[in-house]
Amino acid sequence: MAHGPARVEAMNHASTHSSASDHHGQAGILDLDAEVLAAHLASITSWLPVSSAPRDLVDLCSGTGAGTFALLARFPGARVTAVDSSAEHLHRLREKALERGVADRVRTVLADLDDADWPDLGAPDLVWASASLHHMADPDRTLRRVRDALAPGGLLAVVELAGFPRFLPADAPEEAPGLEDRCHAVGHHDHAGRMPHRGADWGPKLTAAGFAVEDGRTVAVDLPGAQCDAVGRYAVATLRRLRGSVAPGLSGADLAALDGLLDVDGPRSILRRADLGVRTERTVWAARRS
Ligand SMILES: C[S@@+](CC[C@H](N)C(=O)[O-])C[C@H]1O[C@@H](n2cnc3c(N)ncnc32)[C@H](O)[C@@H]1O
Repeated sequence: MAHGPARVEAMNHASTHSSASDHHGQAGILDLDAEVLAAHLASITSWLPVSSAPRDLVDLCSGTGAGTFALLARFPGARVTAVDSSAEHLHRLREKALERGVADRVRTVLADLDDADWPDLGAPDLVWASASLHHMADPDRTLRRVRDALAPGGLLAVVELAGFPRFLPADAPEEAPGLEDRCHAVGHHDHAGRMPHRGADWGPKLTAAGFAVEDGRTVAVDLPGAQCDAVGRYAVATLRRLRGSVAPGLSGADLAALDGLLDVDGPRSILRRADLGVRTERTVWAARRS
């Protein structure tokens, strides 16, 4: 893959600056995201160009810990500092760390990374930023701060997601073919106003911030729903959340079709569909502090 592919579109399927009452839904989606895409995440952490195992890691905008736990599994001698502005996400992350017996390897830091002052993150040898940078008010400043924090020769892994995940074929459902595309079009319009850095080409930004981009790759995800119950739960949770923001922009027929898919006990439930699956992409840039 060329470094910094222009086609990459960062996604915010679980947007950040939501109300406190909405965070539970977001945390649930982040957990499902981690569960459904665990193998893909593991393939990304195994691919990271590290010559010796990093020991001091930072998960920037960690959410509920998808990256934290993938990194702990990949680097058994490492400790991770997970930073996020959501107390609820960090609480969930700590609960999971206890459940998994790795609490002694995780430190959580509640901080708004847009603030003028950053918390002390030590001198990590690996910083992981997954679906994070496009949330920053000034991602160029964030990248410079990460460069300054990294130990000499340290690595930054930037992971971004391609658009919204797709759960149905393009011609589905029967009563409203192309429904997901129309939902995504409304959703993209909504997100573009709130997160102008979505879809940025991170390669040149990394270089401008003083990194040498060493490698990059795009991982395609195409999982059939039949193999995994979590895919159905992920689809319902994600589409319910999307409905919340796109409903005013949909036609009555599209909204009725979407509600039919989301009525999990109804005849048109997405959970009853044999063509349910998850199709998405993740792109990763590995950048060395130069
Ligand atoms: C889309 S989630 C990604 C979570 C995680 N990195 C993952 O891959 O599952 C974005 C996360 O960024 C956090 N966030 C957004 N803006 C932030 C800020 N200014 N400072 C710290 N965290 C922030 C949110 O609370 C949320 O947990």
